[in-house]
Amino acid sequence: MAFLYKAEPVRGEAWRRIFADRRPGLPFHIWPEPHDPAAIRYLAAWIPPEDLTVYPNLEVLFCVAAGVDQLDLSRVPLDLPVVRMIEPELISGMAEYVCWAVLSLQREMQRYLQDQRDRRWEARPMRAAADTRVGVMGLGNLGRAVLARLAPFGYPLSGWSRSRQEIPGVTCHAGAGELPAFLANCDVLVCLLPLTDATRGILDARLFAQLPMGAALVNVGRGGHLVAPDLLAALDAGRLSAAILDVTDPEPPAPDDPLWSHPRVWLTPHIASATGHRGGAEAVLANLDRHDRALPLTGLVDRTRGY
Ligand code: GLV
Repeated sequence: MAFLYKAEPVRGEAWRRIFADRRPGLPFHIWPEPHDPAAIRYLAAWIPPEDLTVYPNLEVLFCVAAGVDQLDLSRVPLDLPVVRMIEPELISGMAEYVCWAVLSLQREMQRYLQDQRDRRWEARPMRAAADTRVGVMGLGNLGRAVLARLAPFGYPLSGWSRSRQEIPGVTCHAGAGELPAFLANCDVLVCLLPLTDATRGILDARLFAQLPMGAALVNVGRGGHLVAPDLLAALDAGRLSAAILDVTDPEPPAPDDPLWSHPRVWLTPHIASATGHRGGAEAVLANLDRHDRALPLTGLVDRTRGY
């Protein structure tokens, strides 16, 4: 029985030390170290090896990230449990990033940064947090944590998700039928959806047209959620005022992609949040314990939903 890790190697070394301490009887291999495929019971990966049939005794596939869209689930046997990452550092990183992004948009920090570069000293009227409605699409662990961290600033908060959720202090909307009502009240729209066939390209001209004039976008989901030419057109038309994008499709954008240089687009290189070394290992170890005891795994992917 052995564990195979196939992702960022520095984190792999950290996991190896933690596993040696906590599961000393479980051999831990970092891909592509030599290993006996038949011994591998657990695989943790960002992108798994192409052919999973070489691991006939695999019992659980752990994704090292919160999103599992980069796994080609069609190649993963249906009876193999797939688990996405839920751990505190990943969650707080996302909450910090989105708070920064929403504050920056509310306080127009990108414009003030440009003003400094242009040697312009000009105060603009401040929009109060209470007058800046923030809506979060995707109300899983990350979306909920983001809303909880935004609440003390005083933003009126709303959320939208596929299935109905209830979050104190947040106006929650569910399903396609309630999307227009949600969008109509978002001065800042934050996308934290999982990327599935149902959400690919959801951030398009049709959606932007339902936001209040001059709304701003924060995309921390996946690049595939966004139809980038529609965003650029909406920014140029003044329909949207600004966008902060931590994800693009592809990553990085091509050298001549207009996203790089648009004055109202702020790009960051998929750094909003990352799985912590210790927290990630602890989350997997806790799930190994649950697996041993035949308890439901935390973060189990529903293969019919795709997340
Ligand atoms: C990163 O993008 C993740 O899905 O954890």
